[in-house]
Amino acid sequence: MAADQLISNAKIVNEGTITEGDVLVLDGRIEGINVSVPAGVPTYDAAGAWLLPGMIDDQVHFREPGFEHKGTIATESRAAIAGGITSYMEMPNCNPLTVTHNALADKHSRAADHSETNYAFYFGATNDNLEAIKTVDSSLACGIKVFMGASTGNMLVDNVQTLEGIFSGSPLVIATHCEDTPTIIVNEQAALQKYGEDIPFSEHSNIRSEAACYKSSSLAVALAKQYGTRLHVLHLTTERELELFAAGAMDNKQITAEVCVHHLFFNDSFYESKGADIKCNPAIKTAGDQIALQRAVMDDRIDIIATDHAPHTIEEKARSYRGAPSGLPLVQHALVTLLELTREGLLTIEKVVEKTAHAPARLFDVKERGYIREGYHADLVVIDPASTTDPAEIHSKCGWSPFSGIDLNHRVRATWVNGHLRYRDGRFLDGPLGQALEFDR
Ligand code: DOR
Repeated sequence: MAADQLISNAKIVNEGTITEGDVLVLDGRIEGINVSVPAGVPTYDAAGAWLLPGMIDDQVHFREPGFEHKGTIATESRAAIAGGITSYMEMPNCNPLTVTHNALADKHSRAADHSETNYAFYFGATNDNLEAIKTVDSSLACGIKVFMGASTGNMLVDNVQTLEGIFSGSPLVIATHCEDTPTIIVNEQAALQKYGEDIPFSEHSNIRSEAACYKSSSLAVALAKQYGTRLHVLHLTTERELELFAAGAMDNKQITAEVCVHHLFFNDSFYESKGADIKCNPAIKTAGDQIALQRAVMDDRIDIIATDHAPHTIEEKARSYRGAPSGLPLVQHALVTLLELTREGLLTIEKVVEKTAHAPARLFDVKERGYIREGYHADLVVIDPASTTDPAEIHSKCGWSPFSGIDLNHRVRATWVNGHLRYRDGRFLDGPLGQALEFDR
């Protein structure tokens, strides 16, 4: 049974409002905000810090099975707890790829044995697994992942008939990685002509260009409109793509969009100092794109903020441009980074909570999570705005962070997963493993 707890003296950010007071947790569930407290319930004094529903990260790569030297379900889910992420949805580009029913079941059994936080998995599309997509067990998969552009792992789906079959036949929301691979190949050849093998990292956003993103995102949106598909376009990076998405409340949208923390926080001026450490797909683009993405979060053209946590080792990242893999470890610093943007007035904390907790819960029909509501699972995080995060304290297995050397002026103080206090003041506390997310659909 979960330890009961009164989280007192908090600034509770939930459902668009900030309320000062206490949250009572009984038997792993939220009993209420500012309700009467039974005798003997121990108190955690939040001392005026923020209390948020834990982040539900709808895009992570935890590398298991197949790439355990980069990260495992155990190591990365632990790093997630230290960042206030209490549930994650994990991607299929492992080895073996999560593109068969057996591979999906295998991931569930690994997570049941090792995941510190709550978990769900995407089922991956290939050019030839349409029957498996149509018959996937919808209680075991949060969605169908389609790489409409090649990235880490060999999962490109580029056959138009296959895409039409997937968009017309998927039983679940389709989440797409959109970058047009032929455009990228032409751009890379041009960069090779110009620089030889010594391509500077700053060329990444010219190679994985705005045009490549737009071409692929607009194809995904066109297919979704043609077939009435429930489409979620992952990690937008350009102002131009935003014209493909509608502003406003998410619930009636057939087509939704996600942005990632690093595309909100960095722009191409960071390539000079960070190089491979911010090489990711789609690429980090211009300051103008970054500002447009921040505004699109605020006006609800973008529905969800995620991490695309994608660890690679220090040695892999030390290679030159073409050899260094794309992807950044982010789960540990995502929330404090977003709160850094609230300090600068670019986002509000209420919007951060909406896009990191409420919206992913609703989009994927996650049962009883994502809000501080009576009866919901007590997945909670206390974040202190009067303390700082040292990005050198790293829990991801890869041991590095793109935020090193950057001031992060908030600190995760405590994280509860299913009512268990699992992280407090820099220390992990023992407790039960996470649970498989359940879906109300
Ligand atoms: O930068 C990225 N890294 N983008 C992706 O789409 C995949 C990811 C990875 O798995 O490394």
